[in-house]
Amino acid sequence: MKKKKVVLGITSSISAYKACDLSRLFVKGGYDVHVVITENASKLVSTLTLEALTGNPVHTNETLWEKHEMGHINLKEGAALFLVAPATANIIGKFASGIADDIVSTTFLAMKCPVVLAPAMNPDMFSSRPVQENLKKLEGWGIKIIDPAEGVVACGDTGKGKLPEIEVIYREALNEIK
Ligand SMILES: Cc1cc2nc3c(=O)[nH]c(=O)nc-3n(C[C@H](O)[C@H](O)[C@H](O)COP(=O)(O)O)c2cc1C
Repeated sequence: MKKKKVVLGITSSISAYKACDLSRLFVKGGYDVHVVITENASKLVSTLTLEALTGNPVHTNETLWEKHEMGHINLKEGAALFLVAPATANIIGKFASGIADDIVSTTFLAMKCPVVLAPAMNPDMFSSRPVQENLKKLEGWGIKIIDPAEGVVACGDTGKGKLPEIEVIYREALNEIK
């Protein structure tokens, strides 16, 4: 049987390194995993690592612009799920505003499958009015938002904003696949 295709968007939260293990969970679960990563996130985790873990080429701004691959269009074909984990305040704002100026936000606009976001950021950023209103807007469009976990975040602050355990993200994301 053909494997279901999962597109994993990675943006530049400090928790981006956890997306490597997350990609592996999907691979072990029998999914065909394709990564799209922002330029900033690729400074935090290597595309080489993600290619080795998923067995597929990683899509970046560079592959879009320099290799002229229409990654965002190719990726939507047959996709069962578009999961962005971690999702920065920045990408949430772009999604909510229809901005498409990088590979991840452009892919989002092209997707016809269920979309799941796992926001991760400083608790004050997470509770800020722009982020909350953007998330509400996205939820109103049928996008599943995975609630961040509470605890101490990388900068030392405490509150709600941490990326949940990858097993939680995996489970919640799979629930959205039709
Ligand atoms: C080390 C580091 C960690 C960061 N962690 C976060 C984070 O957890 N959440 C977030 O929204 N932004 C975080 N930022 C800020 C984003 O990287 C910044 O807003 C960036 O422009 C987002 O780009 P992207 O959404 O294209 O990946 C962090 C920045 C740095 C340098």
